[in-house]
Amino acid sequence: MLDFTGKLVFVAGAGSVGPGWGNGKATAVLFARQGATVFGVDIEREAIAETNKLIEAEGGRCLAHQCDMRVSAQVQAAVEACMQAFGRIDVLVNNVGGSAPGDPVTMSEEVWDAQIEHNLKTAFLGCKHVLPIMEKQGSGAIVNISSVDGLSAKNGVMAYASTKWAVRGMTRVAAVATWTATGCSGVASRVAGGSPAQASASVSRIVAGSRNRFIAVLKDCRWRDRETLAPGARRGGR
Ligand SMILES: NC(=O)c1ccc[n+]([C@@H]2O[C@H](COP(=O)([O-])OP(=O)(O)OC[C@H]3O[C@@H](n4cnc5c(N)ncnc54)[C@H](O)[C@@H]3O)[C@@H](O)[C@H]2O)c1
Repeated sequence: MLDFTGKLVFVAGAGSVGPGWGNGKATAVLFARQGATVFGVDIEREAIAETNKLIEAEGGRCLAHQCDMRVSAQVQAAVEACMQAFGRIDVLVNNVGGSAPGDPVTMSEEVWDAQIEHNLKTAFLGCKHVLPIMEKQGSGAIVNISSVDGLSAKNGVMAYASTKWAVRGMTRVAAVATWTATGCSGVASRVAGGSPAQASASVSRIVAGSRNRFIAVLKDCRWRDRETLAPGARRGGR
């Protein structure tokens, strides 16, 4: 078990879309079990309240905040509320996302636009408002939740698959931008899950911090399906 004592973890989409466990609720509860203080945000007040209750019932610490991650001003306000309460953000988990059916011909433009907002813009806005804080701190990690559909060309989920590919691409681009700004960042991606009974997600994270810290993180991962972007290796490249 990792020790996150003293760490502040900001989970975007920390509730769950239905009863039981979703990725966001499970992520928030597990971070709290490992000692982190969780700042949980969700568009649904009841959803985040339930996660909050679960964490506090186990003796953990969680502050719940209602926020639509598609709206920049709301994300900014959430980040400011978190900073006011805790003064730092060590980990951001961009978990908001979901799938709508359709192929290039049958999908309406409205559904396409909504999927871009839901799956991609939410993660972009999380990075936009939290990265400056991590850069200032000189440390932090951002976990952007993609999907196995962001690794393949699955039929029938046109916009979902496209946005999940884009989440992985955005993670890399953001890491390069962080490197350029601070001289330190990297990207490590993995495919989590795997059995049919499990949700599988491609998880990309930006590691901000010293070069040694990035290398330590890479050495530490026993990831089967690892892609890395070495710090600075492609600076100015494609
Ligand atoms: N469920 C799966 O099988 C599966 C598989 C692969 C990847 N994923 C990815 O995992 C992530 C979580 O999926 P999940 O199905 O476990 O959902 P989840 O149960 O984690 O719920 C997502 C939460 O996000 C909240 N939310 C929705 N829109 C929001 C917004 N605009 N702002 C703030 N909060 C918002 C919802 O209210 C909900 O509480 C998604 O990115 C999804 O694409 C899921």
